[in-house]
Amino acid sequence: MNILVTGGAGYLGSVLVPELLANGHGVTVLDNFMFGQATLLDCCRYDRFRIVRGDARDESTVGRLLADADVVIPLAALVGAPICDYDPVAANTVNLAAVQMLCRMAAPSQRIIFPTTNSGYGIGESGKHCTEETPLRPISLYGVTKVRAEEAVLARENGLSFRLATVFGMSSRMRTDLLVNDFVYRAVHDRAVVIFQGHFKRNYIHVRDVARVFIHALGNFDRMRGRAYNVGLDDANLSKLELCERIQAHLPKFVYLEAEIGEDPDKRDYIVSNARIASTGFEPEWSLDRGIDELIRGFTILKDRSFGNF
Ligand SMILES: NC(=O)c1ccc[n+]([C@@H]2O[C@H](COP(=O)([O-])OP(=O)(O)OC[C@H]3O[C@@H](n4cnc5c(N)ncnc54)[C@H](O)[C@@H]3O)[C@@H](O)[C@H]2O)c1
Repeated sequence: MNILVTGGAGYLGSVLVPELLANGHGVTVLDNFMFGQATLLDCCRYDRFRIVRGDARDESTVGRLLADADVVIPLAALVGAPICDYDPVAANTVNLAAVQMLCRMAAPSQRIIFPTTNSGYGIGESGKHCTEETPLRPISLYGVTKVRAEEAVLARENGLSFRLATVFGMSSRMRTDLLVNDFVYRAVHDRAVVIFQGHFKRNYIHVRDVARVFIHALGNFDRMRGRAYNVGLDDANLSKLELCERIQAHLPKFVYLEAEIGEDPDKRDYIVSNARIASTGFEPEWSLDRGIDELIRGFTILKDRSFGNF
């Protein structure tokens, strides 16, 4: 298949795109490389790989690239509440308007597989398993734009969405603002972390399982389309304190403390059921512990020392 991936040079895309190419697909990535990231270099050896430096909001560029796409995976976004609050105009235009534009421009037969966040489930549902029928009530601009973009994708005949848990694991465009990645980075380099809302529970999924679930959808699209699917680890509905405990089992010198130093803008405190995606035959391969080991190796390589002597 020919697959157009917007934002394909990001954290998820940098793991997904090489997998799509290795699976024999033709892949076009449209990305503005907003972080100056040097990623996807290992993909350039494929003749089936096309890279376009450009903006996912640009109608003429998107129209041209859509022409020969069987599938579109729109990853381009301002990801997370802080960056969306910093630039709300870009958040609205990239996260929402560009996805609505894609849905408008794509032919009905073209398939769109869209990732969104499950963070809006949390509100008022503490202690209950959230299914795809649980209303999403996001608070942050990030959550709101993603939920509305998902509505546009699911209104199409050929759309489906993945409501991803908090993603963890190594990628060549690394993100250390994601909870597990952040804590392991601090555990490796600072040996300590101060957490707030330590009993709030979240769900987690490894970045390679996210790539696998997209590939799963490509192979099972007809029976999966039109629906949203939670994607997370059933055995990792863990509070931040429990997550720290797990990290400490790998790095015994790691110290964590709880203090009222902040509040989650999306008030995430929820446990998630992943039964629907499991019923389609998808099973994650990466446990949290395997991912923590991987991150410890990765952060031994990655160390920001631009402002220190040692
Ligand atoms: N990582 C997670 O935990 C998670 C969870 C749920 C959903 N998602 C969704 O997955 C997608 C990818 O997230 P990520 O973690 O890889 O984030 P990321 O920030 O690493 O990737 C976003 C990519 O989009 C590109 N981009 C931004 N604005 C653009 C524009 N106007 N035109 C073209 N490219 C642009 C960036 O350069 C970057 O490569 C996003 O849609 C995000 O909402 C991620």
